Amino acid sequence: MRVAVTGGRGQLGRQVRRAFGEAGCEVLEPLLDRPAHDIADLAIIDTIAAMRPDLVVHCAAMTDVDGCARDPDAALRVNALGTRNVALGARRAGAALVAISTNEVFSGTARSPYDEWSPVEPINPYGRSKAIGEAFVRQLVPESYIVRTAWLFGPGGNNFVTKMIARAKAGPITIVADEVGSPTYAPDLADALVALVHTGAYGTYHLVNEGVASRLEFAQAIFALAGIEADVTPTTLAQWPRASQVPPRTPLRNLAGAVLGIRLRPWREALAAYLSIEAA
Ligand SMILES: NC(=O)c1ccc[n+]([C@@H]2O[C@H](COP(=O)([O-])OP(=O)(O)OC[C@H]3O[C@@H](n4cnc5c(N)ncnc54)[C@H](OP(=O)(O)O)[C@@H]3O)[C@@H](O)[C@H]2O)c1
Repeated sequence: MRVAVTGGRGQLGRQVRRAFGEAGCEVLEPLLDRPAHDIADLAIIDTIAAMRPDLVVHCAAMTDVDGCARDPDAALRVNALGTRNVALGARRAGAALVAISTNEVFSGTARSPYDEWSPVEPINPYGRSKAIGEAFVRQLVPESYIVRTAWLFGPGGNNFVTKMIARAKAGPITIVADEVGSPTYAPDLADALVALVHTGAYGTYHLVNEGVASRLEFAQAIFALAGIEADVTPTTLAQWPRASQVPPRTPLRNLAGAVLGIRLRPWREALAAYLSIEAA
């Protein structure tokens, strides 16, 4: 299978390249990443078509949630219209499409975890731009998998794990206790994407590591596993000023994937695996 990857140098994109390569797929050049290939530019449609992929895995996105809040038009250009362009490229090539989306399409006010059919209700420009991107994918490429994930961490990424370790080593640290989500290890997600694509069961999926955590619980697990004695003061979202509004509770329930036998291990196991690699 010939596989094109957008955002191939990002935290998830590099794992997608590894996982599909290990599965015997041909991961195509060029990598559809900035600066050479901007998905917001219509030229990406021809570029993708010329690569003749069987599958496009779309990982590129403007992922800075606060940056999206400061510049909502940029978020729409990249995450909404850029995703439309990638979908048009996949369609022109006759390729299937995996489009990565986010827990932030939900408002975070539900009492129980969000499943794949919960109505989207974004409360910030990042979530809105990703929700519009999802709608373009559904409209333009029936042979598509929309995969929502959350709180990604993995090798080479500037993620919550690396930030917490750096900040705790630098001094006292304040961490939000009332934001709850589904921490997810990028290599596990990439492996799950390979398994998902092999099912041919197009649709919407929630692929996250099992289990739920608050930011504080996630950080405490990081410090315990990394052997860091952190000086932590808990705080609340209300007391933590950010450019973007944050959906407070967005645990994702993996129902559609689990029915196909696609489950990711508990996040604490994945975190331990990640930190053992980082320590090596
Ligand atoms: N990170 C998370 O916690 C998280 C949670 C839920 C869902 N997701 C979704 O998961 C996917 C992968 O996220 P990630 O953590 O791997 O993000 P990442 O590390 O920021 O990678 C995104 C990649 O896309 C590239 N990119 C940005 N704008 C682009 C454009 N206009 N044209 C082409 N490439 C562009 C980035 O390049 P630059 O480095 O130059 O910007 C980067 O290489 C995204 O769809 C994201 O929305 C992420």
